[in-house]
Amino acid sequence: THSTQPADAAQRSVQYRSLCIFFLHHSYRDNKPTRRSRAICKTNQGGDRTLLLAAMATKIYIVYYSTWGHVATLAEEMKKGAEAVPGVEVNVWRVPETLPEDVLGKMHATPGREDHPVITARQLAEADGILFGFPTRFGMMAAQMKAFFDSTGGLWQAQSLAGKPAGVFFATGTQGGGQETTALTAVTQLTHHGMLFVPVGYTHGAGMFGMDEVKGGSPYGAGTFAGADGSRVPSDAELALAAHQGKYFAGVAKKLKAV
Ligand SMILES: Cc1cc2nc3c(=O)[nH]c(=O)nc-3n(C[C@H](O)[C@H](O)[C@H](O)COP(=O)(O)O)c2cc1C
Repeated sequence: THSTQPADAAQRSVQYRSLCIFFLHHSYRDNKPTRRSRAICKTNQGGDRTLLLAAMATKIYIVYYSTWGHVATLAEEMKKGAEAVPGVEVNVWRVPETLPEDVLGKMHATPGREDHPVITARQLAEADGILFGFPTRFGMMAAQMKAFFDSTGGLWQAQSLAGKPAGVFFATGTQGGGQETTALTAVTQLTHHGMLFVPVGYTHGAGMFGMDEVKGGSPYGAGTFAGADGSRVPSDAELALAAHQGKYFAGVAKKLKAV
């Protein structure tokens, strides 16, 4: 509905009103348009469609921790998939690092990506759906991600994340190193927040059944193997599942937002 042609005021106003009706219709709670949606329509009566369209977009946050970059690569692929869904806006975030610089140096950790800003717990509440990514540590999520979840007590108290869809993705060093346990144990965090766990299931189809190559990922979510020394990079099949999960998840979040 974006037009580069200058529309006259009357036409713009009609376009704006119909967008507004659509928006209000899709932001009902308890059989009434939400207070937020009414306020957005009212304050923009001048007809700022850009603002209205932005308010209508389904916001997906991809929130991850990565020491050596494997999870970060999956996060980027998730983003591409999610952005392919019309009306979806995607932001990729890192959770705060908890290890001191000198320790990270000794671990030869990859520097955090500047284009993925560090998120605060409070910002999670802005999202309509969240994909959490993390490497495994002894079969469960890395402490950095757990520390981030531990900082969400205020959100839990206010029930700010309840009813929001959430998915997970992960990296392990080896096969049998925790692809499934890492995902499954993360579900406790989502459950206590009342989030809706959206697994990718077998929605990616045939590619998930093949036994011809080593590949991470499962019905729980996309995954990759870093290799025991971290030298393996995500394979095409793993990247394809990540992109698919991003798209699938964004579609589910969009439908839920419209309910
Ligand atoms: C303390 C520690 C514990 C780890 N535990 C496991 C494990 O239980 N299973 C496994 O497969 N890999 C394990 N790994 C390997 C990491 O999961 C792997 O390097 C990581 O998934 C790479 O992801 P990243 O590049 O995004 O950091 C461990 C690594 C560290 C440093």
